[in-house]
Parts: sequence; C-alpha cells; structure tokens
Amino acid sequence: MTHNISPEEFSDFIRTRRSIRSFKSDPIPTDVLNRILGDAKWAPSWTNTQPYFLAIASGETTKLLSKEYLRLFDQSIPAQHGSKWAILKMYLTGKGKPSWDYRTTLPYPEVLVPYRRKTGFELYSLLGIERGDRKGRDAQWRRNFEFFGAPTVIFVFVHDGLKQFAAQDAGYMEQILMLSALVNGVGTCAQGAIATWAGPVRAEFDIPEGYKFITAISMGYPDDDIINTFNPGRREIDRLEK
Ligand SMILES: Cc1cc2nc3c(=O)[nH]c(=O)nc-3n(C[C@H](O)[C@H](O)[C@H](O)COP(=O)(O)O)c2cc1C
Repeated sequence: MTHNISPEEFSDFIRTRRSIRSFKSDPIPTDVLNRILGDAKWAPSWTNTQPYFLAIASGETTKLLSKEYLRLFDQSIPAQHGSKWAILKMYLTGKGKPSWDYRTTLPYPEVLVPYRRKTGFELYSLLGIERGDRKGRDAQWRRNFEFFGAPTVIFVFVHDGLKQFAAQDAGYMEQILMLSALVNGVGTCAQGAIATWAGPVRAEFDIPEGYKFITAISMGYPDDDIINTFNPGRREIDRLEK
C-alpha cells in the first residue's frame, strides 16, 4: 500500500470540503464526471456488492426535474407550516404529498436537537435571515429544489434487500464521490430534502426494481455567494474510551 499523501495534507484536504449551496451554471465536462464516478466505485461495500444505483441528471433533465420539485415544494408549503387542515388537504388532494421511499421528516432525537438548531441558526444568521422570518427561511429552503443552480444532480438509490447496510455502503461511496469532486474542482451538496419526493426522478428514469431513493447530490462549480463560506465546524465525535 503506497501513496504520496502525508497525514497533514490529508487532514488539510478533507477540511476544505464544504457543502456548496450556490453553483455556476457551467456544465461538468463528461471526462471530469467520469473520473469522479470512477473514484466513487472504489468505496468499500458489503461483500463488494456495491448495492446502490445512480440516476444522473444533467442539462435539460436537471432543469425539468427542478421544475417538478419546485412545484411539489410550493404545493407542500402550507402543510409544512404544520396546520392540521393543510396536512389533511395535502393528503386528500395529493398536491405536494410526499412520495418518499424513506420518510424524510423523522422527528429529531432529543439528544441531537441542539446540534440541528445550532447549524440552522448559524446558517440563517450568515444569510441575515431572522429567526421569525418564515418567508425568508422558506425561500432559502426552496433553493434546495433548484438544486442550488447545479448543472448535475446524482439521485442515489439503495437496494432495499440489504437494508441499513446498503444505506451505509451508499454513504461510503458518496463520501469518496464528494472528496473526488473536491480534488477535481467540483462542489457538491448532499440533499436529503430531495428524497421527500421519489416521484419525479422515478418518472424520468427507469429505476430497477428493489432500489429505493435515499438522497440526492447536487454537483457543479461553486460561485462566490456568501452561503458557500458557511462552515458549521465540528464537535468531537461522541465516544467512550478505555
Ligand atoms: C445525507 C445528507 C443529507 C443532507 N441534506 C441536506 C439538504 O437537504 N439540504 C442542505 O442544504 N444540506 C444538506 N446536507 C448538508 C449538511 O447540512 C452538511 O453536510 C452539514 O451541515 C455539514 O456541513 P459541511 O458539509 O459544509 O461540512 C445533507 C448532508 C447529508 C450528509
């Protein structure tokens, strides 16, 4: 096992990856995308099965899907604001109703709530969006469904037969994909929000049976919007040691 990366270089490198939430429209050249995918396939997986499937949207397909996701998001806003009537109406009319393979609105475990709050608070503070400014928050969250302007979006599906192990393997693969993108000058943002609706991506791509939509990754060249400077930092990993 030989390589030329020093531990210090590696530590510096992985710390420069940030979630990118504002992209230039420039397309990712095919050879660059293929190189990134060629790296991602080297992730370890359960008996080397690579139990995931990617639907990769670029160009017009990205635009078309964004239109559809924005429509669903806009329809779902009243229900997202939590009124029981709006939720009932969403389910009765079907407008904006989630079509998830895995539910994306799980309640946060109490022990994790403070970290979620801190990240949200710091992001919105950076953008000058006040705590009570629901419109401002909605408008920012809506950017998810424009894929933050990214030219390419990878929709990640996992084989349901391997349950949590497939999800774990997809995570290993996604991390390599994101780091390879970084070294190739390409920004990424994992987006669980997109998995609220599997309908649009299933309508556009013929996804093989047994695969479930778990997350999306928007990819492209970062622009210089302030949002791309957001660095939520890290706490130490929770652990016990003996
Ligand atoms: C599985 C997964 C889903 C995510 N979903 C979203 C999302 O829907 N929208 C978003 O803006 N960021 C999303 N993120 C990005 C996280 O908020 C981000 O990774 C975290 O705040 C740490 O910031 P960093 O990636 O810049 O280090 C997601 C990240 C992961 C790993």
